[in-house]
Amino acid sequence: MNDLLPSEVARWHAMEETIREVVRLHGYREIRVPVIEHTPLYVRSVGEGTDIVDKEMYSFTFHDEPMTVRPEGTAGVVRAYVEHAVHTKEPVSRFYYEGPMFRGERPARGRYRQFHQAGCEVFGDPGPVVDAEMIDMIVALFARLGIKDVEVLVNSLGGKGTKAKYREKLVEYLTPEKDALSEDSKRRLSTNPLRILDSKDPRDQAAIKDAPSVLDVIDDDDRAHFDGLRRHLDKLQTPYTVEPRLVRGLDYYSRTLFEIRGRGGELGAQNTLAGGGRYDGLVEELGGPATPAIGFAAGLERLLLATELPAKKLEADVLIAPMGERAAGEALVIARELRAAGVPVVVEGRGGSLKSMLRRANSLGSAKAIVIGDGELDRGVVQLKDLAGHSQKDVPRAEIVLAVKS
Ligand code: HAM
Repeated sequence: MNDLLPSEVARWHAMEETIREVVRLHGYREIRVPVIEHTPLYVRSVGEGTDIVDKEMYSFTFHDEPMTVRPEGTAGVVRAYVEHAVHTKEPVSRFYYEGPMFRGERPARGRYRQFHQAGCEVFGDPGPVVDAEMIDMIVALFARLGIKDVEVLVNSLGGKGTKAKYREKLVEYLTPEKDALSEDSKRRLSTNPLRILDSKDPRDQAAIKDAPSVLDVIDDDDRAHFDGLRRHLDKLQTPYTVEPRLVRGLDYYSRTLFEIRGRGGELGAQNTLAGGGRYDGLVEELGGPATPAIGFAAGLERLLLATELPAKKLEADVLIAPMGERAAGEALVIARELRAAGVPVVVEGRGGSLKSMLRRANSLGSAKAIVIGDGELDRGVVQLKDLAGHSQKDVPRAEIVLAVKS
């Protein structure tokens, strides 16, 4: 879990502003949901047998209720969608969210225990038009953040029927190899065989190398949906690769799946910048009406590693440097006037030499400084310094706001 000091938060703000702008252009509105939910919500949606539910959740009991600090955003947003019967108010909902998520993973560069996601969820639209639009939006967003070298991977898991058929096929294929699997995957073979495909264990990787893919058993409707997605992506000229082994580590997915990976830069091994997919069965599973849905989330720490957004250092436009006690009082009044006019100002209240105060202005990134001493007070003026242009002039006290703003 990381502290973010103000010098880093400036980059976060710049990134968050860009994300908000792009999702707004696509009709998404922000939703804010709690960071703590009942544990069974995640067990039912993310799924038993997934790494998240089996090993990574920060769970605790509060007054006999099992609670979990959210490991991801989709489950909570779906719970809110069902709880507020949003489907009765609008046929299609487009939600955006951002905030901290918590997973007790082994920390590494780009992998943290508290990390931040920005995500979108669409309810009530079966796709594949919106599926293609969402992938295109993410690629466009990344380009605006200066992340151009990305790889888009897509796959389809099929609907309920296809998923069941695939599970069977996989068990059939892997059962003779059972002894070669990791301990976790031996267990998963009976509880959640699809999750063996997520495993990073070299023993499992060897066993699944030639395993059948979903696309071998996908039914006609699911294939038509997937073909539709591909046609729309082709039309948009969004480059992508079909990755038949892409299953993603959460149980709620059906049909469209996708990941956007960064290449090179500071990312290293944790190069999956965003991932998502369709979860057409989840709203119903959590007590709502049958509602098709799709979404994605992007890891903000990883986006920051991949982008070259400059740190914009500007803490105050103006520093006021009062020379002495009487001038300090006047400085406070001038600062108040400037702030009322929308100008960020810092008063150097510690005193000291003019030189040291101007050094402070420099470190704050201020373009201007106002110097006031007894002489200026007696003459009814202040000294306005243009720090970039290395010039200065006396300005009548009454005209200071106007002079700063011009
Ligand atoms: P996810 O693939 O588990 O999907 O996470 C999405 C993104 O969050 C990842 O691609 C990665 O960038 C970031 N991320 C995940 N874990 C960590 C970590 N420990 N440290 C840093 N970044 C991390 C979901 O969470 C789904 N809820 C996405 C979704 C929304 N699917 C449908 N709707």
